[in-house]
Amino acid sequence: MTSPGARERVHFDPAAMPTRDFYRVLNSVVVPRPIAWVCSRSAAGVHNLAPHSFYTVACVDPPVVQFTSVGRKDSLRNVEATGEFTISLTPEALFEQINATGTDFPPDHSEAEHTGVRLEPAETVDAMRVADSPVSVECELHSTVRLGDSTVVFGRVRHISAWAEVVQDGRPRIEHLRPLARLGGNEWATIGEVLEIARIPFTTWSEDPSIGERLRGG
Ligand SMILES: Cc1cc2nc3c(=O)[nH]c(=O)nc-3n(C[C@H](O)[C@H](O)[C@H](O)COP(=O)(O)O)c2cc1C
Repeated sequence: MTSPGARERVHFDPAAMPTRDFYRVLNSVVVPRPIAWVCSRSAAGVHNLAPHSFYTVACVDPPVVQFTSVGRKDSLRNVEATGEFTISLTPEALFEQINATGTDFPPDHSEAEHTGVRLEPAETVDAMRVADSPVSVECELHSTVRLGDSTVVFGRVRHISAWAEVVQDGRPRIEHLRPLARLGGNEWATIGEVLEIARIPFTTWSEDPSIGERLRGG
């Protein structure tokens, strides 16, 4: 058997692969993913904490974030029952705890208690946040959308709180946040080198032909 050349493409067809195998590929190419540490309360009052890496901003105005429950999990059930939740940033310092809150504890068990993650009340919603996480996003349930085996949860952001020590010039700064991200398989990532670049307005682009020439390698 000859091995494929380095730039020859390997093809993955969801129609021709077991769902689980394609999921592994998908998770390996949509990377890195931020992790929402979702804290919700069950109807019986149990505080639930679970990581969800299918997480992003869904809307700017009004501010809405989204996470996806693959299957019907406790976080989804709780959010549907109470209409409120928080999302804490997942700091490097709590790596093992974050992973352990992804354990499939039964609904009457609190992951936070099992893993020693300290919770404290949020500001504007009747849910807890992670006390040792520098950022908490407080949400009211906006809506859910069912897609196949998954449910996308949209949360209207009512409040964000951040530790004073991570805020500079009016925004939390990445060098202080040190968030973990999720990759494929069991791989996780820390923040590597941070690059900075300003967006190029079209007016600048048209006035200065050297910008395009440099990018095109001219
Ligand atoms: C880093 C990480 C990211 C995860 N991302 C998701 C996700 O986006 N969606 C999902 O349904 N499960 C995800 N999981 C698995 C859930 O956290 C796991 O099923 C957990 O038990 C769900 O908890 P709950 O039933 O209390 O909601 C992830 C697990 C880890 C460790």
